[in-house]
Amino acid sequence: MVSPGKTPTIALCVTGSIAAYKAVEIARLLKKAGARVIPLLTESAQKFIGSVTLSGITGEAALTNMWDPSFPGELHVDIAKRADVVVIAPATADLLARLAQGRADDLLTALALCTQSPVIVAPAMHPSMWSHPAVVRNVSTLKADGRVTFVGPDSGEVASGDVGMGRMASPETIAAAALACTETLDLKGMRIVVSAGPTVEDLDPVRFIGNRSTGKMGFAIAERAAARGASVTLVAGPVSLSTPRNVTRIDVRGALAMRDALWQTLGEQLDRADIVIMTAAVADYRPATTSNTKLKRTAAPMSLDLVPNPDLLAEIGAARKTPRPVLVGFAVETDSDDGVVALARGKLQKKRCDMVIANHAADSFGRDDNRATLVTATDAHPFGVLPKTVLADKILDHAAAKVRA
Ligand code: CTP
Repeated sequence: MVSPGKTPTIALCVTGSIAAYKAVEIARLLKKAGARVIPLLTESAQKFIGSVTLSGITGEAALTNMWDPSFPGELHVDIAKRADVVVIAPATADLLARLAQGRADDLLTALALCTQSPVIVAPAMHPSMWSHPAVVRNVSTLKADGRVTFVGPDSGEVASGDVGMGRMASPETIAAAALACTETLDLKGMRIVVSAGPTVEDLDPVRFIGNRSTGKMGFAIAERAAARGASVTLVAGPVSLSTPRNVTRIDVRGALAMRDALWQTLGEQLDRADIVIMTAAVADYRPATTSNTKLKRTAAPMSLDLVPNPDLLAEIGAARKTPRPVLVGFAVETDSDDGVVALARGKLQKKRCDMVIANHAADSFGRDDNRATLVTATDAHPFGVLPKTVLADKILDHAAAKVRA
């Protein structure tokens, strides 16, 4: 477990399997999630991928040699102290044998013995090897020792083209398992409600008015809040994103349905949430009528009658009688940077929320990163360009601090 605010450090150890190339993707995902990654390659891993690739992607020297003369102390002890998690991916049959025996004849095995942090092992080998009694014995020894956690292997096609159990788990699964070990659960006990995605306002059974929101920011906030132990309800407009782990999801279409779902979740007294984060791009207008049958084309020009939707955030802001729930709005603008902050502050006051995350449409919609500024009544705090998951953590840090204040 990593103390709040500290960047997690993950030792990514690669052994000599063809799946070694996937370790590069694991390193990329861990970096993207904000971790510091120390790459470590065994001698045979270096026959499969170059240390330059791993050091390039992690920004850290790739370690290959226990006897590195340029390092003044004991390298394996130093990494053991620094790494919050040790990931061995791919892990060969030979590595499993050496771990099971408690060998320490290279940097990786010495590190595995020395570390007090969680060790994640992602085996990769031919199915015949994985099912061999010697490997089965080593795996069960390691499981009985209880010092490592296995992720995979999966069943599927392996390098030879044969199919069976032995394919390394996906880089996403391995990275998620590593990151889960670094979670602080600092939001345990907090109830967080997030709105996300667009709302779509139906014209008839086949047409609607919508917008370009993909829901990525709201889903990232829900994912991070749940990973940090909060109890999370996500009210989502139509998006094509999967539900993050441990998140209760309510799917809606239009603004009115989103309003109902929010109030049902929050309760009339707004006493069922500690934090409400409104990332949804709620349509400001909806068609005055929705036709039950498909509208037919005619030669005449056509105009649509639109009626305003309620402002869901402003309604919650107006109903709030206590500082709880902490209310976070979003403001997507197309103005200059200064203009964006000014507009966001105007929305903050009008909708009576505690903070507004201001961003530029071009920096946000559909992207995996975002350049946002946290605007309060008195401050504007630019975050710079961050992956949405990292930005999500920063927003949660500020909102949680306000709950605790
Ligand atoms: N919002 C809402 N209900 C609406 C419109 C917006 O709850 N009908 C919320 C959004 O979820 C967001 C904030 O209000 O948290 C600001 O949304 P935005 O679309 O930027 O602002 P609008 O108030 O709609 O103003 P405009 O579109 O004129 O910029």
